[in-house]
Amino acid sequence: MRQTLVAGNWKMNGSKESIQTLLEGISTGMSDVANTKVVVCAPSIYLPLVSEQLADSDIGFGAETISEYEVGAYTGEISAAMLNDFSCQYVIVGHSERRSIYGEQDADTANKYAAARNAGMTPILCLGESLEEREKGITEEVVSRQLDAVLSQEGVESLADAVIAYEPVWAIGTGMTATPEQAQDVHKFIREKIATMNADIADKVQILYGGSMNAGNANDLLGMADIDGGLIGGASLKAEDFLAICKAG
Ligand code: 13P
Repeated sequence: MRQTLVAGNWKMNGSKESIQTLLEGISTGMSDVANTKVVVCAPSIYLPLVSEQLADSDIGFGAETISEYEVGAYTGEISAAMLNDFSCQYVIVGHSERRSIYGEQDADTANKYAAARNAGMTPILCLGESLEEREKGITEEVVSRQLDAVLSQEGVESLADAVIAYEPVWAIGTGMTATPEQAQDVHKFIREKIATMNADIADKVQILYGGSMNAGNANDLLGMADIDGGLIGGASLKAEDFLAICKAG
């Protein structure tokens, strides 16, 4: 049985004050969250603050991206060792905003995934098709290509300590959530593809859904057989909204 995981991706939002209030709110509501693992992914500059505030908490935390390089002349980048210095446990890699706005390629994502794992952190590997790709009927092809780029380099066994997030790009920040059936179809496809390589890993790997998930649709999405949790953008910025999703899990 896979544990439900609900992770917030704050993106480039928040301030010292708002983050403190948000974490206080989430922490207070955690007593009503039964079996779900809760994680927040924060802008790197706030990770020391998050780490301090969550020191005695069951809430995990992570970064939103990572450098693929270990050390050196990479102005503005943050390495795995630096994230480790602040006890960071998770790292989002391959988010569609990194791919589309910053030009990160499948190979970069694979290297970032490797950097996170090599440092003992859990990568949250994002996969997902654009609206154009969905309309062309190549969703499975796109998701396969994105997944293969990582697995051909790092091996299917690497998924034993990784998380996958299926985030259809057209559903991110648009309010246009995938229907539970649409999401389930792709999640099942991903799991079956992994099962052709390693059935045990496929059975255990958590596959999260991301894209306009909120308190109103979380129950239906999380009720699908292959949806093991959520990666939440907008609705993770308010304690009440985020907790409602965590409780649905
Ligand atoms: P929204 O929940 O705002 O659609 O964002 C989803 C997302 O990109 C999480 O990584």
